[in-house]
Amino acid sequence: MATVAASIRSALGPVAPRPFLKWAGGKGQLVPVLRPLAPASIGTYFEPFIGGGALFFALMVDPGRRPERSVLSDLNADLVQTYKAVQGSLTRLLKRLGELEAEYLSLNNAGREAMYYRMRASRPRAGGEVAARVIFLNKTCFNGLYRVNRQGEFNVPHGRYKTPRICDRETLTAASKALRGVEVRHADFEAACAEAKRGDFVYFDPPFHPLSATSSFTAYTVADFGEAEQMRLKRCVDDLTRRGVAVLVSNSPHPWIRGGWEFAGYRVEVVSARRAINSKADRRGPIGELVITNDVGA
Ligand SMILES: C[S@@+](CC[C@H](N)C(=O)[O-])C[C@H]1O[C@@H](n2cnc3c(N)ncnc32)[C@H](O)[C@@H]1O
Repeated sequence: MATVAASIRSALGPVAPRPFLKWAGGKGQLVPVLRPLAPASIGTYFEPFIGGGALFFALMVDPGRRPERSVLSDLNADLVQTYKAVQGSLTRLLKRLGELEAEYLSLNNAGREAMYYRMRASRPRAGGEVAARVIFLNKTCFNGLYRVNRQGEFNVPHGRYKTPRICDRETLTAASKALRGVEVRHADFEAACAEAKRGDFVYFDPPFHPLSATSSFTAYTVADFGEAEQMRLKRCVDDLTRRGVAVLVSNSPHPWIRGGWEFAGYRVEVVSARRAINSKADRRGPIGELVITNDVGA
């Protein structure tokens, strides 16, 4: 095991890879709970709701559970472009982020705000510029939140960080190394794991089913993730289970969600995490989350 760990370290470099974006619903805090629920050996790892990719990056440095191959995907096209740029055009991306960081940090508050809203209003087409915009907005917006309106436009207001690390060279470089050889796709979750087979592992971290009308964080894309989508996810997991694929699902501890999975015979546990993103400070703090497993490969 020690030699496996050493070879992973030398392939990935001195800094452990971790999410390069702050993502609503990101699983950074829950990794110690989630990682042991992955099978001991993973053929292809699928993460169809990649977001910030906390579990993917953690598995890449796990000597026991490092997947042989990984397929990462999301329905958010800008996010997928960003992963592709970090993976394949890192040097150019770092140069552009370095320029943006130097400009932003040289400005006073009014200038920073103007620059932020100018970037927010821009609609770049080229992958590198899309990625630079996503990372810039993520580092300088309010609370690192990602939210779009009905037209699919990012609509989070400006944040007030003193010295945001817009160009976090170490983290981006480590992430780029971890993404080598990984397949990154823009896809709906169902299509993304259609080819999964026995020996593979799929981690689904969908937009959480809201616990109350005001706690919804499902606006990552124009498409809603409502009850019909939660049921489509359940049918997709049923199908993977029949095909012998190991599956782990995260969700909110809503009674409807919990009841549906338990009734169908899945193992359901409530685990605790700290929710960092909530505009009301008094609502931040530990809340339970559901983890659902099909016990294939356990
Ligand atoms: C809870 S976040 C994932 C967080 C991630 N596990 C992390 O650690 O940062 C849910 C993700 O699902 C994506 N999404 C929403 N609907 C989708 C769909 N139908 N298919 C694939 N991805 C979808 C969103 O864009 C968002 O990135």
